[in-house]
Amino acid sequence: MNKSYTPLLLLLSCFAIVSQARNVIEYAADSENTIEKDVTAYDFPACQIYCYGPLLHTVQMANIFRDSKTFVDMKLKKAPEKTIEEFDAFMESKNNTPSDDDVLQFVNDHFDEKGTELEVWTPTDWKENPSFLDNVHDPDLKQWGADLNAIWKDLGRKMKEDVSKNPDYYSIIPVPNPVIIPGGRFIEFYYWDSYWIIRGLLLSEMQDTARGMIENFLSIVQRIGFIPNGGRVYYWGRSQPPLLTAMVKAYVDFTKDDLFAINALDVLEHEFEYFINNHTVQAKGHNLVAYRDSSTGPRPESYREDVESAKIFDTEEAKEAYYSELKSAAESGMDFSSRWFINSDGTNTGNLTQTKTRSIVPVELNAILYWNAKMIAEFHSKADNVDKVQEYEAKAHKILEAIQAVLWNEDVGAWLDYDLINNKPRNSFVPTNLAPLWVKAYNISDSQKISTAVLKYIEENDLDTFPGGVPNTLIQTGEQWDYPNVWPPMQYILVEGLDNLGTPEAKNLSARWGQRWVKSNFEAYRETRSMFEKYDAEKFGGHGGGGEYDVQKGFGWTNGVIIEWLAKYGRELSISGNTDGAAPSKSLISLLGVATVALIATVAGRYIWRTWFK
Ligand SMILES: *[C@@H]1O[C@H](CO)[C@@H](O)[C@H](O)[C@H]1NC(C)=O
Ligand SMILES: *[C@@H]1O[C@H](CO)[C@@H](O)[C@H](O)[C@H]1NC(C)=O
Ligand SMILES: *[C@@H]1O[C@H](CO)[C@@H](O)[C@H](O)[C@H]1NC(C)=O
Ligand SMILES: *[C@@H]1O[C@H](CO)[C@@H](O)[C@H](O)[C@H]1NC(C)=O
Repeated sequence: MNKSYTPLLLLLSCFAIVSQARNVIEYAADSENTIEKDVTAYDFPACQIYCYGPLLHTVQMANIFRDSKTFVDMKLKKAPEKTIEEFDAFMESKNNTPSDDDVLQFVNDHFDEKGTELEVWTPTDWKENPSFLDNVHDPDLKQWGADLNAIWKDLGRKMKEDVSKNPDYYSIIPVPNPVIIPGGRFIEFYYWDSYWIIRGLLLSEMQDTARGMIENFLSIVQRIGFIPNGGRVYYWGRSQPPLLTAMVKAYVDFTKDDLFAINALDVLEHEFEYFINNHTVQAKGHNLVAYRDSSTGPRPESYREDVESAKIFDTEEAKEAYYSELKSAAESGMDFSSRWFINSDGTNTGNLTQTKTRSIVPVELNAILYWNAKMIAEFHSKADNVDKVQEYEAKAHKILEAIQAVLWNEDVGAWLDYDLINNKPRNSFVPTNLAPLWVKAYNISDSQKISTAVLKYIEENDLDTFPGGVPNTLIQTGEQWDYPNVWPPMQYILVEGLDNLGTPEAKNLSARWGQRWVKSNFEAYRETRSMFEKYDAEKFGGHGGGGEYDVQKGFGWTNGVIIEWLAKYGRELSISGNTDGAAPSKSLISLLGVATVALIATVAGRYIWRTWFK
C-alpha cells in the first residue's frame, strides 16, 4: 500500500458519511488542493482482485461465465487481502492446475452475485409530463416520448450503503449521488454515455438527477485525477471522450446557474490538463492528442477474449502493446472498429489484431478538447477572471490551428484522422470526421466554403442513402463500430453539426437526418417495445448487432437523443406524414388503423358514458 492511498481512504470514508446528503460537497475555489494526482491501480485495494493478477487470470481463463464482465462485477465476501491469501492456498492445494469446476467452486465460495452494489432508485425529481411533450404534436410520438420519460425510472440506480462502508469489497467506484445507467449489461455509469443521458434528463426537467450525476464526475476527478471509462476500478487506466465540461455547460444553459460552472472550474481545468499531459502526440510539428491507456494486461472485463486474440503475437512485449491498443480503442468509446486498424500497407482493411489506436490522431478528441478550452474560457468570463479567459482562449487557438493544419482536408471536404505510422491522413468515412462542426472547431468565417465541401463529401460517400441512419463506417468487419451499425451519439454529432454550420443546405440535411432517425427508432420501438444501444443502417427500424456481446436494450444515450429531437422537431414531425421519401411500412399502416379504431372507440365510449351515466 503506498502513501497516496491514505487520503483516498479518508475521502472514501467522508463519502460514507455524506453519501445520502446531496449538494454537500462544495466545489469551492480552493478545491485544487484536494485533487489527487497520479492515482494508480495500486491505490484501489479492490484492484488486486478486479484489475490484474493471478486470481483474475485464473478465473477469467476458466471460462465460467459467458460474458467476461460478469466476474469482475461480483462482490467479494471477504477483504481483498484475505481473498488473495485463500486463493494462494487454493492454488497450492490444486498443484496450480485447478479444474474449471474447482475454480467455479472457489468463485462461489468467495464472491456474491454481480450487481449487488446497486439498487433500483426512482428519481425523486421525475415528472410525469415534462414540457418537452407539449412540443410533440403527433399522438403516437407523444406517447412514445412519455414512455421514454418513464424509462428513466427503470434506469435509476443508487449505491447501497455498504458500498461506501466497504468499498474494497466491490469493483464499483463509490459516488455520492444516484445515477442513470445505460442499461443492459452496462449496470454502472459510463462517462461519455452520460452526456446524452444528462441532456435527456434536463429536457425531462430532472435537474437534480442531472446535477447529481455531474457532481459524481466532479468528485471522481477530485479523487482520481480524471474520469475512468466507467464506474469500475478495472477501468482505471483509460478515460473516454472528455465531455464533463460539456455536461456542466448543458446544465448551466438549462438552469442559468452560472455559479455551478464557476465552482467547477478547478476540476474542469484539471481534467483538461490531464488530457493534454497524458495524451499528447506530435504531427507535422503540431501538438495534438490521441487515445491511450496507462494500465497493463488484457481488459479485465473482456480478459479471455483479449488473451485469445493476442495469441498471434509471439512475445509478451508484443501482446502487451496489443492490449494497450485495444484499451486505447476502448477509451475512444469506439471499441472496436476498422477505424483503428492500420494494416502493413497503411490501409484499414484487416482485423482486430491490427488495431493501432495509439498511432491515430482522432478528429473528435481534438475537437472536443478545443471545445473544452472554449467552454472553460467562457466559464472564467462569467467570473471575470480575465487572465484565465486569455489563457484558455490561447490554448483553444493553438488546438484549432493544429486541427486546421493536420486534420482538415480541403480536397476531401472533411477532417480526417491522421496516421502517425505512415504520416498520412486516413481517408475513410467515420461520423467523427465531421465532429468539428458539432463543437464549432473551425473558422466560422469559412462556413460557406466548409458547407459546400462537406455536402460534397456526404454525397460522394452516399451517406444520405441509408434508411436506418448513417453507419459508423462503410466497411463491414463484424466489429460493432463498423458497417452497418448506426450509433445514437454519432447521429447526434452529425445532425447537430450540420445544423450548427448554418447554411440552408446543411440545415435542410440536418433536419432530414434528425427526423429520419426519430422515425426509424420509433419503428423499432413499435415493433419491439425496446430502445437499443445501436441500430442498423440498412433497414428502417432495424437494430444493430455484431461485436463482443449481445444486443443491449435500455438505453440511456438512445433515449436522450430521441427526447432531444422530439423536443426539437415535435411540432413538424408526424409518423403518418412521410417527408423522408421512404415508403411507409405495412405494419405502420395497420398501426394507424388500430389507432383510428381506438380513437373511435374512445369517443364512442365517452359519449355512451356521458349519455347513460351522468
Ligand atoms: C499523466 O501524466 C503525468 C505526467 O506525464 C504522469 O506523471 C502520470 O502518471 C500520468 N497519469 C496517468 C493516470 O497516466
Ligand atoms: C488477422 O490478421 C492477421 C494479420 O494479417 C492474420 O495473421 C490473422 O490470421 C487474422 N485473423 C483472422 C481471425 O482473420
Ligand atoms: C479565419 O478566416 C479568415 C478569413 O479567411 C481569416 O482572415 C482569419 O485569419 C481566419 N482565422 C483563423 C483563426 O484561422
Ligand atoms: C430540403 O431539400 C429537399 C430535397 O433535397 C427539398 O425537397 C426540400 O424542399 C428542402 N427543404 C427546405 C426546407 O429547404
